Amino acid sequence: MRVLNIGSMNLDYVYKVDHIILPGETQATESREVFPGGKGINQSVALAKAGVEVYHAGLIGRGGQPFLDICEAFGIHRDFIRQLDAPDGHTVIQIDKEAQNSILLYGGTNRMLTEAFIDEVLSHFTSEDMLLLQNEVNLLPYIVDRAYEKGMTIALNPSPFDQRLDAVDMTKIKLFLLNEVEGHQLTGKTEPSEILSALKVLYPHAKVVLTLGKDGAMYADQNETCFQPIFPVDAVDTTAAGDTFTGYFIAGCIQGLSKQGSLQLGAKASSIAVTRPGAVPSIPFLHEVMEALAPSAAV
Ligand code: RIB
Repeated sequence: MRVLNIGSMNLDYVYKVDHIILPGETQATESREVFPGGKGINQSVALAKAGVEVYHAGLIGRGGQPFLDICEAFGIHRDFIRQLDAPDGHTVIQIDKEAQNSILLYGGTNRMLTEAFIDEVLSHFTSEDMLLLQNEVNLLPYIVDRAYEKGMTIALNPSPFDQRLDAVDMTKIKLFLLNEVEGHQLTGKTEPSEILSALKVLYPHAKVVLTLGKDGAMYADQNETCFQPIFPVDAVDTTAAGDTFTGYFIAGCIQGLSKQGSLQLGAKASSIAVTRPGAVPSIPFLHEVMEALAPSAAV
């Protein structure tokens, strides 16, 4: 199965700080680094490094060459990435001493998709393919409707969660990958088991992966529920941990692993990602994940 990911590409401006800045405060930072990131391309890189055939589609701006280079380096098809004479999507990311982050997002070219561009991209895909989406690009309702008409399998990571998602027909989503906060926003429930039960009622045909931060991750569909604890590590930067998990979970499913095995693969890959700085540069290759998993492998 091929994966088409219509997703964001952001230049991440990463600042190490003593603490996440407070309202009205000015704080000198300890360092600044610029990394390629964006939930879209992070997830494409994780899929590609896990061995899946990925097509990344989206819009870059004047500073977007690093994203073309990344696609080249990791074997991601880049035929559907277009460059505009406009400002790139970018973020300002603070990382505190506990490796927690706080992200300010500017959409830039990521939010300049047109219906004509989406139609052109989707014309190259069929019901045999999967479409992966996050909420950092515009036109999600249109993209979901057109892809559903084609019979594509649609996976949605509704992140960052905001009111723009209200216009998306969620009944067309086959796989949700979301965290507890997003689960709460979608269902009004707080407890993980209640979130999963509510999603099963709202979207009975969907599969759901619910990530719980340090408490692990759960998978549920109408027939199966499973749980995966985290692999504890000393984190230096949690940026892209969720994207790494998403890419590796989907890769595990495509490659025929059980849902439990796919959760385990995602958990191990993200445990490696948090030990490295940056978004795209932190995402491990499959062989690194397999080597790290070897002692505990149950896949
Ligand atoms: O999920 C991590 C990503 O979120 C970062 O790379 C940043 O670009 C933001 O989009």
